[in-house]
Amino acid sequence: MSLAIGVDIGGTKVLGAVVDDEGKVLGEARRETPADDVSGVHTRIIEVITELRETHEVTSVGIGAAGWIDAARSTVLFAPNLAWRNEPLRDRIAADVDLPVVVENDANVAAWAEFRYGAARDADSALLFTVGTGIGGGAVIDGRLLRGAHGVAAEFGHMLAVPDGHICGCGRHGCIEQYASGSALVRFARELAAESPDKAVALLELAGGDVAAIDGPMVTTAAQDGDPVSREAFTRIGGYLGEGLADMAQAFDPETLVIGGGVIEAGDLLLDPARASYEKALSARSRLPVADVRAAQLGVHAGVIGAADLSRVS
Ligand code: BGC
Ligand code: NA
Ligand code: ZN
Repeated sequence: MSLAIGVDIGGTKVLGAVVDDEGKVLGEARRETPADDVSGVHTRIIEVITELRETHEVTSVGIGAAGWIDAARSTVLFAPNLAWRNEPLRDRIAADVDLPVVVENDANVAAWAEFRYGAARDADSALLFTVGTGIGGGAVIDGRLLRGAHGVAAEFGHMLAVPDGHICGCGRHGCIEQYASGSALVRFARELAAESPDKAVALLELAGGDVAAIDGPMVTTAAQDGDPVSREAFTRIGGYLGEGLADMAQAFDPETLVIGGGVIEAGDLLLDPARASYEKALSARSRLPVADVRAAQLGVHAGVIGAADLSRVS
């Protein structure tokens, strides 16, 4: 049995795990992500790997990172929500750990994991949208992870959702990441709660009466309790997400559309409006095959499982 380490670096946490060749997590370690500090992120990655190697013999390391990764699976070209700019992440990590290392986009590795072991394991072609701090995308088409000419295929988060809309971390205005992510959920909830506090009683209670203190888990909890503003915030992000699903389904013709990332912990609160909007947005929908819209199954482990797996099959 060969063991690999997967490391998932998102906007808030660095999660590492030892994973076996059937996708099973045997041990994990985590740190917070110091978002504006490249050398701090490096230190956390090394700490996580070192900690895991104290108890397990591993043969490779796969890293899923929230940004555009080059075709050599080596350099982070740009990361909208982190400080990496042309960061030679693979070589820097490999120099410190003395194991083969590959770097992949965080949503690509999660898509691969859901395809191999999770929600899309019965599909040959599947797309994943991760809904978290940003929006990530991954495409497995006819059994292969799509990387494109430069390694940066399936950046679904930066498709246009609203012409001249909010500025995005990538520099463009109106990206779907600004309208369907966890960050957008919080922004909508804050705006709506400020406008109609009488419809956000449960939410404002969780936030101690302070609109600016509203965070994602509060919106989920309040929505589960039927708070109208919180529900509306989910309906809005789900609506934008569904339109993005429809556009990408037109481009790739997948059997399965998987929604993952932290926000899918809200389940049907996100899935229902996303599915409704997807089906509504499909053109000629009565004549087109409709892909199955599902929640991801591997939760917080999707990234580490996929990264470990891809480090082995490289
Ligand atoms: C980045 C992607 C990443 C996604 C989720 C986006 O802003 O452009 O590379 O996969 O966030 O972390
Ligand atoms: Na991607
Ligand atoms: Zn963008």
